[in-house]
Amino acid sequence: MKDQAEKLRKMISSLETNTVENKKAYRAKVIAITSGKGGVGKTNFAVNFAISLRSLGYKVLILDVDFGLANVDIISGINIRNTISDCLVAGADIEEVINEGPNGIKIISGGSGLHELSIMNQTNIMKFLNLIEKLETTMDFIIIDTGAGVSSTVLEFVMAAEEAIVVTTPDPTSIMDSYTVIKTLTLNGYKGRLNVLANIVDNRKEAYYTYNKLEAASKSFLKCNLNFLGYLEKSDAVVSAVRSQTPFILSSPRSSVSKNMKIIALKFADSNRYAYNYNKKSNFVDKLKKLVFSKR
Ligand SMILES: Nc1ncnc2c1ncn2[C@@H]1O[C@H](COP(=O)(O)OP(=O)(O)OP(=O)(O)O)[C@@H](O)[C@H]1O
Ligand SMILES: [Mg+2]
Repeated sequence: MKDQAEKLRKMISSLETNTVENKKAYRAKVIAITSGKGGVGKTNFAVNFAISLRSLGYKVLILDVDFGLANVDIISGINIRNTISDCLVAGADIEEVINEGPNGIKIISGGSGLHELSIMNQTNIMKFLNLIEKLETTMDFIIIDTGAGVSSTVLEFVMAAEEAIVVTTPDPTSIMDSYTVIKTLTLNGYKGRLNVLANIVDNRKEAYYTYNKLEAASKSFLKCNLNFLGYLEKSDAVVSAVRSQTPFILSSPRSSVSKNMKIIALKFADSNRYAYNYNKKSNFVDKLKKLVFSKR
């Protein structure tokens, strides 16, 4: 335990001396949050992860691509000024649809309602991609919150992201559905890092049991390696945070679930410290364009 605390302290101090604020140009790392089953905690994780990375000094934006069913704003407790459709239909500039979220994170909402879904035609997707390209130069991390499962739009976003975080619970159905997502990504040639977050677990032991099952199946049947990102326990702090529309990291900062969230963000930031290439070309948008337009 002492060792763990010491390791974390070292990570914090090395991150402080490497703060991204010192760097001249940005090229955001894009991370997609996905799952097989719905309702496993993706949006809660996305919002609290974003706030935790922000507290470490990074510029973070959440892009809610659960078009038509977007709810990052609800979990964050903010009123959305504009949604992505204002950009695509009304011609608003990307800056106008960036909403201020809690503790300095930025949020772009995919909007609610059928209209938001129906406007995602080829022309608008292209416009949307050009807008995201602009964001890549002003952020450190862009976190994409997707809807559940692997519909073609979700798959394209995850495939184009440099890292994917698959959120799973210990339920056998959730583990099975997570495996299906990993299989779909692998069979489509996904090259990024595949992280697993075990959510709504009883304890650490159950988290490892959940991860080990998924890892064993992925290794033997798909020959693919996974990375254990961490776990969040089943917690009333999360349930009441959702009801009060305040991210749990802010409403219960001292709870065990918040401490685990901070450790996850710290380890994630540390593992990305050397991965930055601030001059690299926009990977995400290029890849997404190819994925979207090669099929049409
Ligand atoms: N660690 C946790 N402990 C207890 N409850 C949790 C935890 N994480 C999530 N939940 C519960 O799960 C519910 C669904 O969470 P969330 O909306 O984040 O899931 P989701 O995967 O984004 O769902 P969807 O697939 O519909 O987008 C929350 O309202 C909360 O009640
Ligand atoms: Mg969600």
